[in-house]
Amino acid sequence: MAVEFSPEARQKFEKIVARYPKKDGAMLPVLYLAQREFGYLSTEAIEYVAKIMELPAARVYGVVTFYTMLNMKPIGRHHIQVCRTLPCALVGAERIAASIKKKLGIGTGETTADGRFTLSEVECLASCGSGPMMQVNDDYYEDLTEEKVDKILERLK
Ligand code: FES
Repeated sequence: MAVEFSPEARQKFEKIVARYPKKDGAMLPVLYLAQREFGYLSTEAIEYVAKIMELPAARVYGVVTFYTMLNMKPIGRHHIQVCRTLPCALVGAERIAASIKKKLGIGTGETTADGRFTLSEVECLASCGSGPMMQVNDDYYEDLTEEKVDKILERLK
């Protein structure tokens, strides 16, 4: 099946690109749009983005592999990203990640068998004063404790 934006996504693409003086400046929001549209960024999706951005696929691939918010394989409905950078690490990020792993029965980079949750450990998410913290899809959860995490995961199930 050919990978291609829906008419709605194509319109969004045109609007995004129009905001930048040079088309390649729109790379990240376009990749984010593609991820929303296709679920993840397969090789075909990367090649499609390269084509519509008029860039070499290797350049797009380089961006996709750099950012943890961009996924090259299918992920769960809820993508949990726990910050592990020093300020969060000092206030218990490792304990939070361990508690999520235990509760969901998965390791870092894995997805639960029911496809609901994927766990990633990532670098700073720019909420350093409120650690430990995690991002689940578009939402931030800060000042986490194991009890708070339990409640959040229950709510998301
Ligand atoms: Fe965790 Fe910045 S160090 S959000």
